[in-house]
Amino acid sequence: MNPVFYHNDSGRAWVTIDNPPVNATSQAVRAGLIEAIASAERDNCRTGVIVCLGRTFVAGGDISEFGKPPQEPHLPDVYWQLEQSPVIWAVALHGTVLGGGFELAMAAHVRVATSGTRFGLPEVNLGLVPGAGGTQRLPRLVGAELAADLASSGRMIDAQTLFDAGGLDAVVEDDLEGYIGKLLDSASSHPLTTSERNILPVADDYFTSLASAVDKKAKGAKAPQLNIDAVKWAMETDFIEGQSRERQLHLALRDSEQSIALRHAFFAERLVSKPAAIKEVTAAKVEHITVVGGGLMGAGISAACLAAGLNVHLIEVDDNAVAAANERVKGLLQGALKRGKITQAGFEAQYNAFSCGDDYRAAANTDIAIEAVFEDMQVKQNVFAELARHIRADAILATNTSYLNPEEISTDIKNPQRVVGLHFFSPAHIMKLLEIVDTKETSAQALATAFSLAKRIKKVAVLSGVCDGFIGNRMLAAYRRQGDYLLADGATPQQIDAAMRAYGMPMGPYELQDLTGLQIGWANRKRQAPTRAATERYVTIADQLCEKERFGQRSGSGWYQYESDRKPVVDQEVEQLIQHYSNQNGIQRRTFTQQEIQNSMIAVLANEGARILEEGIAERALDIDMVKIHGYGFPRWRGGPMHTADVMGDDTVATILASVVKQSPGSWLLAKKYQR
Ligand code: COA
Repeated sequence: MNPVFYHNDSGRAWVTIDNPPVNATSQAVRAGLIEAIASAERDNCRTGVIVCLGRTFVAGGDISEFGKPPQEPHLPDVYWQLEQSPVIWAVALHGTVLGGGFELAMAAHVRVATSGTRFGLPEVNLGLVPGAGGTQRLPRLVGAELAADLASSGRMIDAQTLFDAGGLDAVVEDDLEGYIGKLLDSASSHPLTTSERNILPVADDYFTSLASAVDKKAKGAKAPQLNIDAVKWAMETDFIEGQSRERQLHLALRDSEQSIALRHAFFAERLVSKPAAIKEVTAAKVEHITVVGGGLMGAGISAACLAAGLNVHLIEVDDNAVAAANERVKGLLQGALKRGKITQAGFEAQYNAFSCGDDYRAAANTDIAIEAVFEDMQVKQNVFAELARHIRADAILATNTSYLNPEEISTDIKNPQRVVGLHFFSPAHIMKLLEIVDTKETSAQALATAFSLAKRIKKVAVLSGVCDGFIGNRMLAAYRRQGDYLLADGATPQQIDAAMRAYGMPMGPYELQDLTGLQIGWANRKRQAPTRAATERYVTIADQLCEKERFGQRSGSGWYQYESDRKPVVDQEVEQLIQHYSNQNGIQRRTFTQQEIQNSMIAVLANEGARILEEGIAERALDIDMVKIHGYGFPRWRGGPMHTADVMGDDTVATILASVVKQSPGSWLLAKKYQR
């Protein structure tokens, strides 16, 4: 079906784009636009309006076409034809005017938006520069500073901000098309086109300081800097030359590893919330949440739910704990208020939707009860039993556990089909990831309801089966274990940290352990000791640090030494301890290159992920990628460990793993796909 409709209303062309869900400029839309422009010219229309049906004006190029060879007509040509047309073209803007949509708006002659419209050039988030003049027209429209900022960050701005910067003719509250009609009635001559405008000069050091700020944040992503370069071309060359350079770079980047990985992440983020397990299942309605436990986790979960407009009741053990929990939640809401995330009225609405007490009877009408108490089986079982006594038979019973088996927590619970694990990450009101844990008994409706809650509280939810640590912490344990093997065999914590930072991780594994504390890992290793295979290689260096009460930053030392500024300082004692461990175990220490460290750490992650898939703990490889990107800082521009392994190829990963296992006998059980 043709997604572009043309209608000549007494000399005014009305062009309507209807290409759900977001009116992306697919080949059919581009062809339809060319035809509509030609029709308007053929009909001698004096003016024309381009408008979109549905939730938004064009929200960009069609990302699903980016992996294929570009098909005519090409977007820059369509927009050039529009801009050069004798017809005065206006755009009626609503929703999210992004990428190719923003470029379309810039090529038009008159731009009017409803007040809620947002604008941006998000190509950078896909490892790209815009492909249809965005970096060349935007500086001409709003100045090079704002253009470079938007193109390199991908952030959105609202209609008023764009209007203030000179990018819109008007912002209206309602009757967008009526307003445009009147504006065009009074338009006497063809306005200056955007590409004809001059660019105002920019202070010399503006681009240098922007580039250095962008570089600090990019952590290996190339597109932010390339977007700044492209905006600079607008100042250095004429429009035709600048646009041609931009287009060439855009097309080259489409085939780059970074863009392919970022596009994988984009689609994975949307697919992850649609596992087969909940296909065509209707979620139950959720308005009331009960949280048990008002510590850091419980308070964070409460704040996340309150921010989504849910009613939250928090249960604690006694008056003192209730008061402390109340203060903690209030503090989080006040923090949001202080940072400008919510208004005073928003704060009051959220705080009014919150209550706190020590009586489980208050949970009688809850839709979902989430226990977030101390990570102890008996304590959690008691809380579950108490909740089950008070909540409705159809209400969902959720446990926020990082490692404990939800099936065991709910052993004596009636209706175990309503039990689900909700593994939040700390701080729960900020971290995007939520693992939704499916027990043997969990019903599809309980899962669907958990996914629907996750969407409402803006989490990236991933379905996980039951295993030690679920997907995320199991992957983390493997990653750390490989780090410890490398330490024992010759590397140092600082070498491994530097290698993984260079790979694009925000922190290395040892700095991170020092930040979060070594105790949790220690407790887990002790818990797992009875079931650990006798043949498994086990390195005790981390345990020895814990025995010396070197628990990380909070205790003043861990893998590193800390002064008051929390900057990790290499510690001779740790180096000696590692050296001593190697000597005692008869290990001839060797050197590892940065590449060897990175390869082995990533191959081990890929192997653990493949085993998780083979065991059916994760449904799809993309689920694992989402866990690592949204919960553990894996560089988004690498697409996640499973995508990375795909790019490396099974044989390459298998070869690396074979050499890791040879170096480190007893280290890894290989997934079937990596056995040779
Ligand atoms: N090309 C192809 N498909 C797109 C798309 C695009 N540019 N933008 C969104 N979609 C698809 C999504 O994959 C999703 O498909 P699904 O329903 O099959 O999962 C659907 O449109 C809705 O998108 P979603 O992100 O779930 O909706 P939203 O209302 O939360 O957000 C946007 C809408 C437009 C803000 C968001 O989709 C977005 O940022 N899109 C990318 C915009 C972009 O990068 N444009 C520049 C491209 S160069």
